[in-house]
Amino acid sequence: MNKIKKDKDEMVSNKVSENSSKKSVVKQILPYLKKEWKLLAMALFAMLIFSSSKAAIPLIIKFAIDQFVNVPQQNSLILISLGFITLAIAHAGSFYLMEFSLLSSAQKILYQLRQDLFDHIQKLPVNFFSKNSVGRLMSRVLGDTDELQTLSDISIHMIGDIMMLIWIIISMLSLNVSLGSILLLTIPVITIYMILWKRKATLKFLQARSTISAVNADLNVNISSVRDIQAMNRQNLNIRAFDQLNQDNKKAALTAILMAASIGPVVTGLTGIALVMAILLGGHLVVTGQMTIGTLIASVLYIQLLFDPIGKIISHIAQFQKSMASGERIFQILNYKKDIIYKEAKEMPKIKGDVTIEDISFSYDNKTHVLNHVNLSIQAGETLALVGPTGSGKSTLAQIIAHTQEEGVTSGCIKLDGNKISEFNQRSITKQIAVIPQSPFLFSGSVMDNIKFNTNITDEYVYKITQYLGIHEIIQNLQHGYDTIMSENGNNLSIGQRQLISFARALVRDPSLIIMDEATAHIDSKTEIMIQQALNKLLSNRTSVIIAHRLSTIKDANQIAVLDHGNIIELGNHKNLIETNGKYAEMYQSNGSVAA
Ligand SMILES: Nc1ncnc2c1ncn2[C@@H]1O[C@H](COP(=O)(O)OP(=O)(O)O)[C@@H](O)[C@H]1O
Ligand SMILES: [Mg+2]
Repeated sequence: MNKIKKDKDEMVSNKVSENSSKKSVVKQILPYLKKEWKLLAMALFAMLIFSSSKAAIPLIIKFAIDQFVNVPQQNSLILISLGFITLAIAHAGSFYLMEFSLLSSAQKILYQLRQDLFDHIQKLPVNFFSKNSVGRLMSRVLGDTDELQTLSDISIHMIGDIMMLIWIIISMLSLNVSLGSILLLTIPVITIYMILWKRKATLKFLQARSTISAVNADLNVNISSVRDIQAMNRQNLNIRAFDQLNQDNKKAALTAILMAASIGPVVTGLTGIALVMAILLGGHLVVTGQMTIGTLIASVLYIQLLFDPIGKIISHIAQFQKSMASGERIFQILNYKKDIIYKEAKEMPKIKGDVTIEDISFSYDNKTHVLNHVNLSIQAGETLALVGPTGSGKSTLAQIIAHTQEEGVTSGCIKLDGNKISEFNQRSITKQIAVIPQSPFLFSGSVMDNIKFNTNITDEYVYKITQYLGIHEIIQNLQHGYDTIMSENGNNLSIGQRQLISFARALVRDPSLIIMDEATAHIDSKTEIMIQQALNKLLSNRTSVIIAHRLSTIKDANQIAVLDHGNIIELGNHKNLIETNGKYAEMYQSNGSVAA
């Protein structure tokens, strides 16, 4: 179900972006187009020849009939045939030239855009990725660049079709004003019909698309968790639910198909009406000698050319809007923090580990504050434990200290060894800080690879660290020891084991500051003891900020800060806080723990 909601959200955001700053998209795509101006100019030139030659065909036929067929002149007929062949060659040649220059310029533009986007994403700060899912970014880099590169293609085709339409209108009127103007009355009728049709058809196609993604999402959930479903005996219920989704999709798809099929007959019908009018009125004009046969035939030919560019222009407009929306999404990323990223910041020197949290306030939405003027300071080598109810702001504060959440800070700063972190190069700071998240991120590779992760240390050094942490044996006892391959997200290991591996990964980097969101999930008491011992080793002589759930961790901490609605309501060590007999003591006594 989530997927549907997301699709809807995306649809909403598409709409919003369609209406907003199109100008800026055009302005930003221009440099890309300028680079390919030669190819694009060639395409435009070819398009001019292409549409003019197509629109000229009925005129030549009229000329041939009136001048040479009615008044037999064998020799000139050969001449006009040659002229006709020349026109046909120009038509085909210009088509080839146009397609060639359009497609190759589009590929070059696409290449450049994708490259720029990729380079840019590589340089974005970490918190950008917490706000944008990987899937979404992928679809931007691949899908949206693809969509945007059609912009030049559409624009040139649109110019060509508009020119063609103008050519046809002028020709029809110049052939015979009264017949021409009556026939041209069909233009507003077909235009209005096509616009209405397009609007409705787009809606129907969107419905078909969102129902099929609902089907896919449901299929995905049901197949990936089929064991749980069978265990809970929910098969029949789920089959019924799937049947409903499947039927919804069938209905939506059928409506969309019917809608698509309905345009053809209407266009044919209108063409028929126009032809009948031409024959009735034109025939009368010919019979009464007011018009030549050639003119009548040319008019009939123009009717058949007339509706094609109208239909194309309307679908170009829709495609143009889609391209613009994609362009806007691409430039949103490209414009993200341009000034900040490219500013060369200083390197943070090796830090000792004094942390100062000075007057930090934070808001995710610029309205409600999640942290209010928080002040804390940690001496190098000491541990600060953060406790408090869920939603009190612990994780947010930890991320701000780790320098992975900078946007949203409305006051104050974090200092490491007295230096404001915001003034330093992000990488030089994050490489000195180890963040151990609540559910450790393990990629599908061996345990060894997961510990080494992006460093160039030796196996021996890894053993040294794991022995020090007391987890060497545990790893050796895994199915293939250090070579055990972790399934994605490490599902083949217990949470406790994953936690231990993430400790080792943190320690091999020799970080000056450790920030940790303790896992709350149940861990058996044997692992619990092991984790505690490894944790003590990990933290000894290192500054750490720990969102603590385990009582033992909290009791050992040098300072405990009790957070509530983003305020620090109590601060002290375990003993002081119990003596103060405040919120901490209350939590401790009522639960036997202060776990949030
Ligand atoms: N990414 C986010 N976007 C918007 N609000 C958030 C986000 N993360 C957390 N919050 C909100 O901020 C508040 C503090 O959350 P958090 O720091 O995770 O608290 P804790 O870790 O103490 O449970 C909560 O009200 C939570 O709903
Ligand atoms: Mg949290």
